[in-house]
Amino acid sequence: MRVLVAGATGAMGRQLVPRLVRAGHEVHGMTRSESKRALLQELGAAPVVADALDPEQVARAVATARPEVVVHELTSIGPMDMRHFDRAFAQTNRLRTEGTDHLLSAARAAGVGRFVAQSFFAGYDRVGGGVKTEDDPFGTVPPPGMEQTVGAIRYVEDQVLAASWTQGLVLRYGGFYGPHTSLGPDGEQTEAVRRRKFPIVGDGGGVWSFIHIADAADATVAAVERGGPGVYNVVDDEPATVATWLPILAESLGAKAPMRVPRLVGRLLAGETGAVMMTELRGASNAKARRELGWAPAHATWRDGFRELGAQARAESGAPA
Ligand SMILES: NC(=O)c1ccc[n+]([C@@H]2O[C@H](COP(=O)([O-])OP(=O)(O)OC[C@H]3O[C@@H](n4cnc5c(N)ncnc54)[C@H](OP(=O)(O)O)[C@@H]3O)[C@@H](O)[C@H]2O)c1
Repeated sequence: MRVLVAGATGAMGRQLVPRLVRAGHEVHGMTRSESKRALLQELGAAPVVADALDPEQVARAVATARPEVVVHELTSIGPMDMRHFDRAFAQTNRLRTEGTDHLLSAARAAGVGRFVAQSFFAGYDRVGGGVKTEDDPFGTVPPPGMEQTVGAIRYVEDQVLAASWTQGLVLRYGGFYGPHTSLGPDGEQTEAVRRRKFPIVGDGGGVWSFIHIADAADATVAAVERGGPGVYNVVDDEPATVATWLPILAESLGAKAPMRVPRLVGRLLAGETGAVMMTELRGASNAKARRELGWAPAHATWRDGFRELGAQARAESGAPA
């Protein structure tokens, strides 16, 4: 099939484009930068240069690529500031609202038959059990400070699922780790854990779901090729509390055990958003994606993935294995 990937040069795009090409698809990759044409060609995609926030450029790009499937992986996250979460996500939120509108309207004009879009597991409402399915309430009670970000995620979901002229699929990814992500060998969060700047707040009872970026890309290929319209959690098999996974991540990176701070202190350090994420978040089940997309994560649990991440980080820094 002809597939247009918006966000083809990012952490996801670098994994997704070669996989789509290997599966026999003709891939067109969108970037803002002329200078990234070569990267896209190396990945196997025909480069399409367009700013996703400019409706005319997007319309032209989609009309030229004439895709049968559009994949929306646009994001632009600045340096993370948990105390001003919505501010750090302001540009991403524009890409998830205005960018989604532009892509959908261009896709409609081009007769696109399938539209696959990103979402994030952390939007599940923080009530009831720790592990959520796609049927559970999502995004109605955002953590304080994340209202705009969760609102923008819901916007992507609502618009894509409401598009009756195409098959809309939404992938609620777990927290990414692996190459080029913030939890990659030299990522921002990896560095924070290594430097003991990522403490366990309160009881660390927030449940997180992770997904290796390569497994997320495999699921995205599956969603391009099959599965009915709707929402799919793309997460690994082991949602786990912060108090469980953070010490194991630190250990696999060869770092000292994370600090523990009372919720009140955590709130000062990471704002109410950070404190809520560490103590109240809910994880997600991948049963539907396994069943209906015929997909399974190669890194079934973050335990294996974090071990691999630690080994890669050591190899890249030249430290002994
Ligand atoms: N990280 C996580 O834990 C996580 C979890 C759930 C969901 N997600 C979502 O998954 C998706 C993939 O994430 P990622 O880690 O691959 O993101 P990333 O590495 O930050 O890549 C972002 C991509 O968006 C493109 N982009 C940004 N602004 C653009 C604009 N104005 N016009 C055109 N392209 C633009 C960039 O292209 P150029 O720079 O080449 O223009 C790049 O290809 C994102 O939508 C993200 O929000 C991430």
